[in-house]
Amino acid sequence: MTAQIIDITREHDGALAKACAVLGDGLPVAIPTETVYGLAADATNPAAITRIYETKGRPRFNPLICHMSDLDMAERYAEFDPISRKLAEAFWPGPLTLILPLKPESGIHALATAGLDTVGIRLPKGFASELIRAFGRPLAAPSANTSGKVSPTSAAHVADDLGDKLVLIIDGGAAPVGVESTIVRVEDGVIRLLRPGGVAAEEIEKATGLQVIRSEGPAAIIEAPGMLASHYAPGAAVRLNADHVDEGEALIRFGSAPVAGVELAKAVFDLSPSGDLAQAAANLFDYLKQADATGAARVAVTPIPDHGLGEAINDRLARAAAPRE
Ligand code: TXA
Ligand code: MG
Repeated sequence: MTAQIIDITREHDGALAKACAVLGDGLPVAIPTETVYGLAADATNPAAITRIYETKGRPRFNPLICHMSDLDMAERYAEFDPISRKLAEAFWPGPLTLILPLKPESGIHALATAGLDTVGIRLPKGFASELIRAFGRPLAAPSANTSGKVSPTSAAHVADDLGDKLVLIIDGGAAPVGVESTIVRVEDGVIRLLRPGGVAAEEIEKATGLQVIRSEGPAAIIEAPGMLASHYAPGAAVRLNADHVDEGEALIRFGSAPVAGVELAKAVFDLSPSGDLAQAAANLFDYLKQADATGAARVAVTPIPDHGLGEAINDRLARAAAPRE
């Protein structure tokens, strides 16, 4: 099996119709979202959800985000407290996932939530949103990569990794945000950050007037079971906070500060020459993959500021650099 790739700029309506048909057959479809490409399937169909886990090689205790077309649809499946509703109004559609109490018997299958009594919900932008509306049911969608690999930000990334396991990949161009959604959970009036992502924590604080609490260590891992340490792992080793390049390393740099030994680098990738964190996030996964593809045994990465989207970038880089089994 080799996936058909349909480009939405050329065949928008055909892409929508074909994606609906494949989803209706209980098969997953790789789709563009503003964050990363997702591997989407009918969140109410257990056979379809099982195929997501099989295709990714993903552990079944790791729940999936359920994607909705609008707030009305989301409210059929989950209970909103006032703060979560405020966050939904401020950031949806967009790169924010809310962990909410699941409405019993709502129709989302327990395989999508890994049997939890909560559900992760997000309203994506663009083609994904149109597809959910046309299909009429929520789509469970993890990132469209083999479990443990870097998330895809283009249809070509998906095709390289999963092309022979899928029937359909929808090509919507480069994902504009480039890192996955921010995941938060509101409990007893407290906003807890389970995964930094495409909405900066500072923006959430500004919209609510509340402090965002970071979960640390094992608690965060249990809360968002996908946040295992050695995730986003490229083949090459990753060396963080580099101020110089060693012979044969590939270099991923940020900003205009000079890097000693840059002439020794096997290849140089500049996340954002002007020091723009949004541009750096959009380039991050593609450059990690390209740096890996140079065959360099190690990738050196210069420091990235830890505010705004830098928090998500540094989180993903720390996972890419984490020791492997
Ligand atoms: O931007 C994104 O969020 C992308 C696009 C495709 O929407 N999706 C994505 O999905 O990154 P995935 O499966 O790679 O990451 C989802 C994370 C996992 O860490 C999972 O454990 C967590 O969300 N999660 C899902 N449902 C949860 C729940 N009910 N409680 C706690 N964590 C949950
Ligand atoms: Mg993922």
